[in-house]
Amino acid sequence: MTFTLPDLPYAHDALAPYMSKETLEYHHDKHHQAYVTNGNNALKGTEYEGKSLEDIVRAAHGKNPSVFNNAGQHYNHLHFWKWMKPNGGGNKLPGRLEKKIIEDFTSLDKFKADFVAAGAGQFGSGWAWLQVKNGKLQVSKTANAESPLVQGATPILGCDVWEHSYYIDYRNRRPDYLKAFLDNLVNWDYVDELFSKAG
Ligand SMILES: [Fe+2]
Repeated sequence: MTFTLPDLPYAHDALAPYMSKETLEYHHDKHHQAYVTNGNNALKGTEYEGKSLEDIVRAAHGKNPSVFNNAGQHYNHLHFWKWMKPNGGGNKLPGRLEKKIIEDFTSLDKFKADFVAAGAGQFGSGWAWLQVKNGKLQVSKTANAESPLVQGATPILGCDVWEHSYYIDYRNRRPDYLKAFLDNLVNWDYVDELFSKAG
């Protein structure tokens, strides 16, 4: 397969003030584009050509760093844009998902605190996740381009904690960015869609 950069599912200024137009212009138009371009170059002539994106990410992990890093970040960012929407976040979740979060974390607030702690505690670049593993919801964190895909889990929500995702708007205040992501940006309907597919 060939990677292509999708359009954002909203205007570049639609997530302000929680994520600015300038951040999305750099993050989507430049950074994600670079993963697409470099990924396509790295894939050429390799055994990974012709595989699905998820299979490339899993197969290249630990074997081909340039394919893995670019394909991994392409996968992560494809979902990241859809994990946000204008007027998102907050406490109105689809019922089945909310019930499962309360079952596995004791409360929505506890899930949010765990998610912020994971993202804030990721040393250097990476991601904070809500994942499904063995029928349970779990919070996790990964470095760089890694995701729950390479740990035998299914990601249903992720927040990019690379500095390119928040430094223009939040400077060094990564926990404030993570809180704003949960309170004002998350597209819970898309999280629920992935949760349903994950079984
Ligand atoms: Fe990013």
